Amino acid sequence: MNGEIGVYIHIPFCFSKCFYCDFASYSKKEDKIESYINALCTEIIQNAEILSEYSITTIYIGGGTPSYIDSKYIKQILDTLNIFINKEKLQEITIELNPNSVTKEKLETYKECGINRLSIGLQSTHDSVLKKIGRVHKFNDFKEVLDLANNIGFDNISLDLIYPLPDLSLSEFKDSVDYVVSLKDKNIKHISIYNLEVHEGSKLDFILNEGYASLVDEDVEYEMYKYLVNKFEENGYKRYEISNYALPGYESKHNLKYWNQEQYLGFGSNASSFFCGVRSSNIKDIESYIESINNNCTPKDDESYEDLDKDALEKEYVMLSLRKIDGVNKNKFKIRYKKDIHDVFAKEIDELKKDNLIIEDETNIYLSKRGLEVANIVWERFI
Ligand SMILES: C[S@@+](CC[C@H](N)C(=O)[O-])C[C@H]1O[C@@H](n2cnc3c(N)ncnc32)[C@H](O)[C@@H]1O
Ligand code: SF4
Repeated sequence: MNGEIGVYIHIPFCFSKCFYCDFASYSKKEDKIESYINALCTEIIQNAEILSEYSITTIYIGGGTPSYIDSKYIKQILDTLNIFINKEKLQEITIELNPNSVTKEKLETYKECGINRLSIGLQSTHDSVLKKIGRVHKFNDFKEVLDLANNIGFDNISLDLIYPLPDLSLSEFKDSVDYVVSLKDKNIKHISIYNLEVHEGSKLDFILNEGYASLVDEDVEYEMYKYLVNKFEENGYKRYEISNYALPGYESKHNLKYWNQEQYLGFGSNASSFFCGVRSSNIKDIESYIESINNNCTPKDDESYEDLDKDALEKEYVMLSLRKIDGVNKNKFKIRYKKDIHDVFAKEIDELKKDNLIIEDETNIYLSKRGLEVANIVWERFI
């Protein structure tokens, strides 16, 4: 065995496209689901040699909306992966759910397949806002799914929120945060809260440009930020990454692999991989992905290959680590790259310290309170 590896599975199907979403996900392609899943399982087998040499410790089934498709397909994928899984090494299998597409039967199948972590896309607790951003679910659907998941015995559940959502008042936002932190006894162990990104050309962009909805004022957004950070921390959800909070021990093991620059293989259209210092992604288009697998070719997008040299790996390691609240561990950097971090990034570290954007203590270098608010500026200094 060569060490540990994570596996990402991409399910690109959704019931409908949310107005803000720029992910590789599509609606009205149900006729492709079966051939897509067969192709994805073939891609797993194509990688048998690598998968047999590593211990799979985490699996993340994301999308798109994995809960949208029949759960027999999720079982088919996990059965295929099972050939390579050592159950004693496997720590976490996560699946993403959209509250409108979950049933008791689907959750039961997930449980039987060994899925032990659910990630539910709540986004907001306000139906009027959910409607404005094109979500098909209602707040009540989330509550029902959460109850079902608890009844079936899922005890490690994460939820996704987006903020600041258009036209949401500060008091409405506070209500959402207060509600979310009241769910500890319903096994909400982890909260991801993403800053709304308005992608050019998206439906949301159009709605905002035409004045059908308005973005929240920057001052109000800052008040929201301060409220959520305090409320989550006060309730025991420790911030461990820019957008992620968890009760102790419930950090996402799979996502930590990304931020710790560890190896993972992605299967499915648009899925990305990091393996032996090379970053790569699969073809985005579902039909072309299926075709290339059926023609016994690699589904990689040729243009996506990035063979990172040592300099690039070091820079990337620091940038990824600074996403975590603990930042970069100087000793780990030294063990990994056989160099003192100061010998590589003296100028950047000095400047960022002078600007009060990072803090250095005996062991780590991490974002300051101000640095956390303007993290993009910090990362840019390392590019
Ligand atoms: C693949 S989706 C999660 C599962 C499922 N598709 C859903 O939406 O319920 C990943 C998450 O990314 C976040 N997200 C997607 N587009 C975003 C955007 N434009 N700005 C901020 N967050 C976004 C949402 O919170 C979403 O839940
Ligand atoms: S359900 Fe999720 S992946 Fe699908 S369009 Fe909406 S946010 Fe994107």
